Order: sequence, then structure tokens, then C-alpha cells
Amino acid sequence: CMVRHYKFNVVLKNTTRLCSTKPIVTVNGRYPGPTLVAREDDTILVKVVNHVKYNLSIHWHGIRQIRTGWADGPAYITQCPIQPGQNYVYNFTLTGQRGTLWYHAHILWLRATVHGAIVILPKRDVPYPFPKPHKEEIVVLGEWWKSDVEAVINEALKSGLAPNVSDAHTINGHPGPVPGCPSKGYTLPVKPGKTYMLRIINAALNEELFFKIAGHQLTVVEVDATYVKPFKTDTIVIAPGQTTNVLVTTHRGGGKYMVAASPFMDAPIAIDNVTATATLHYSGSLTSAATTLTSTPPKNATSVATNFISSLRSLNSKQYPANVPLKIDHSLLFTVGLGINPCPTCVNGSRVVASINNVTFVMPKISLLQAHFFNISGVFTSDFPGNPPVSFNYTSTQVTNFATKQGTRLYRLAYNDTVQLVLQDTGMITPENHPLHLHGFNFFEVGRGLGNFNPKEDPKKFNLVDPVERNTIGVPSGGWTAIRFRADNPGVWFMHCHLEVHTTWGLKMAFVVDNGEGPNESLLPPPSDFPKC
Ligand code: C2O
Repeated sequence: CMVRHYKFNVVLKNTTRLCSTKPIVTVNGRYPGPTLVAREDDTILVKVVNHVKYNLSIHWHGIRQIRTGWADGPAYITQCPIQPGQNYVYNFTLTGQRGTLWYHAHILWLRATVHGAIVILPKRDVPYPFPKPHKEEIVVLGEWWKSDVEAVINEALKSGLAPNVSDAHTINGHPGPVPGCPSKGYTLPVKPGKTYMLRIINAALNEELFFKIAGHQLTVVEVDATYVKPFKTDTIVIAPGQTTNVLVTTHRGGGKYMVAASPFMDAPIAIDNVTATATLHYSGSLTSAATTLTSTPPKNATSVATNFISSLRSLNSKQYPANVPLKIDHSLLFTVGLGINPCPTCVNGSRVVASINNVTFVMPKISLLQAHFFNISGVFTSDFPGNPPVSFNYTSTQVTNFATKQGTRLYRLAYNDTVQLVLQDTGMITPENHPLHLHGFNFFEVGRGLGNFNPKEDPKKFNLVDPVERNTIGVPSGGWTAIRFRADNPGVWFMHCHLEVHTTWGLKMAFVVDNGEGPNESLLPPPSDFPKC
């Protein structure tokens, strides 16, 4: 294996989209940012230099960071931010992982434009468990606001209300033509009769997305850097944080075909419905030729999403077994949802909050990982509730008191403990999907359903053989999902909704995993250039 060095200069760059120009925060002046390429077992060193006026940190989403939590990146969870003018070298090893992941800023709303792909190739001489594609392409889906993104969320925090939705979605940084702005979208050149692998990443802040290509089937082969049993579909569903690799075989002819990404199931009140488009362009076809169009499912097409999600199975081959924990040490149930708390300084005297088990997470002033490693008291408590504090019907009756409790509370696990975690959407204000992301681990989704989780009946139907393994899971609107993982990575690991607005509102918590007794079971010390608060 190799050591690979990258340098990320985080700089402002004037960028034109939707026929207007604004400065955006970028990696090396690029949007989306440059792709990191490495092989399984390689070590990556990324020197991040902060040239902008904001505090900064970067997260390597899905990289397990075994014993190297200091390089994970969420600000105030595992590190203090890199201050303007400062730099920090993220140093980590890609242990036992291969596939598509991504990186993004993990502070403020900077990830809107500070993000890019991570491609982890299998070890040399280890083939993919599917036919080798002719070519591989990165497809990053995103969102674009005409106004300054930090201003959008700051306004919302002042008012206590929801922020403005984005003005467009993007495919590799481009919305494609939209009413009022006939700009050119992204073009993917292809040859006839070949198979391509698309590494699709949902980097949008607040939208689950449908993705589709006119006239072409997609064969799903991997999600969140784990292989799945291949299956064919017209449309994929992808939540913020998730990645999906698909094979696309081009036919013998020529032509141009629309590639489309559009939202799935916002809150019912949201009005955002802009489809981003790109073009699959067969070589030899005239640019002026008509494009074969397609339309994505409507945004409330829950059945499309459910069919897609229920088709996902771990490959579970001899070489890539699904090691689902069978004996469970901690059986947890977390409710996730929105609430309303008093806010004397907000326009309505109240503000929207979000919570897990009724705890709205309060960010600490120094990083939790430092507090844990150096035994600094008063930063967090280890009493995060493993079950909802009050039981009620999570999906039909609205509670009369929406208020949540605030706290920096963590759930403590011993090294190698196994966890079963049921994530139950409460739909207290409105049912919404919540893509929950767990740092530091992959987990298996052993079950999901609509309505209330039934602790007696539902576990009987769990798939403990070949459940999909991932790092970000969509908790269905008005329903639940059950995941299992083994706490074999010491440190402090953030878990949060990957809808950025919900993270901001407090839909987040962290697990603290103590060191084990063995020689390779403890958190390494922080690097010497570790940022100070
Ligand atoms: Cu991709 Cu904590 O985030």
C-alpha cells in the first residue's frame, strides 16, 4: 500500500450558475471539488489550508477512521475548527474499505459547495465482483442557492423558522437549463455498446433525490462503499450522504439522453421541485440532435423509493461476507423528529428545533473527542437516553407539548459492544424522511417499516443474513428502521440527520466508545498540528 498526499486550498471562487455570479467557498477553486483516488489499505494525507474568513473542518464521509478519530472532521465533535489562515493535515488509513465515498466541510453550511468524491479502488489484482466497466465516471448531485448559503441559514436561525429552499439542484455542479436561464448542463460523453460505472453521490444539503437516465436501465452494484447483490432499476433513490454505484450499458445506436435528478418527499409544505438535468451524449451524435427526454417520479412517489430500498441486499459472498451482529449488548430505540421551543428573540417567540429521544443536541465549545481523551470534565455527560423518555403513539397523535430538552449528552459503549438501534420517526409536527448518518462505523439495516415499531413482532422479520450495509440510512417518513453495528472503533462518533437543516436544529447525538484492552484497540493520540479552539 501507498501513502498519498493531497493539498486542499480552501478558497473563494466567483462562480456563475442560474445566470448569476457569486463567490463560493471551494476546494482548489473547484465546484464540486477534486476527487481523491486511492486504494484499499492506502494512507491518505490531506493538508487543508484555510484561506477563507470562516472556521473550517472537513469530514471524510464513510471512512471508518479506525483509531484515528482526530481525522474524522466534524467541528466540535472530533476537532476544533481550522481557523482562517491556519492548516491541518488529515491523516488516515483506508482499512478494509473500497468503493465510492465523499468528503465535505463539516461546519456551518459550507458543505453546500465544499465537497467532492473519494474513490477507493480495490487492492491491486483484486477485481470488482462484477464485470469491469469500460470507464468510470463521478456524478455528484447537489443544490444551488442564488444567495449566500450562510446568509440563508443565519436568517432562518434569527427568525426561528425554516430556511429558504435551494433555487436549483445540480449534476456535477450544473443545474442544466431552467426556465429563465438556458444554461448548458453537464455532458457525459459515451461510446455505443460499452458499460460505464457511475459513482453517484448525493451532496445536496436538504434533499433526497431520484436519479434517472432516459432510455437506459441502471444496475446497482454498490452503496456506501459496500457491494450489493446487483439489481436493475429505472430510477435510484439517494439521500444526502449516500453514495450509489450503478452500471449503465450503452446500446448500439447513437443519440443524446437526458439524465435527471429531482427531489423525493420533502416536508409536504416545501415547494422545491426543480429538476436538474444533464446529457448522456453518444460519440458521433450531433450536438444539435434532439435529446430523448425522461421524467423522474413525482416527489411523493413513496412506492418507488420503497421498492428501490427493499431491493438492496449485501452481496454477502465468501469474499465479502455480511458480518451482522447476532448477539446484542445494547437494544436502543431513538425517536427522531422536529419540535418547537420557546425563543424570546425570534419573530414568533418560538423556534423550530429537532431532537433524538427528545434531546436537542447542544454543541460544546471544545471538541468532545478531546474532552474524552484528556478526561476534561464539564463538556459532556454520558447519559443519553437509550429509549424515549415518554412513550406515545409516534405516528398518528400529535403531542400537545412540542418542547424538547437541550443537552450535550452522549451514549457510552464499551469496545466491541454490539448495538441494535431502532430509529423511529415521530412525525410530531410533520412526518419527514430523516437520512441518519453514523460516523466511524458501517451498520446493517436489518428491518424497516411504516407506523410504530412493534418490539414483539417486528424483530421476528429481521433480515440477519444479507441486510444492506451502509453509513447513512433513510428513516422512512412516519416509520422506522432498525440497524445493527459493532462498536469496534474507539473514539467519539457523531450521529445526525444528513438534512443539514435538521442537523442545525439539533437532530444529532454522539456515541463514545471506550478503548479495548488489546494492543490495537485504543484511540491513538492527537497529531501535533491538531487545531486549537
Ligand atoms: Cu456526511 Cu457528519 O456527515
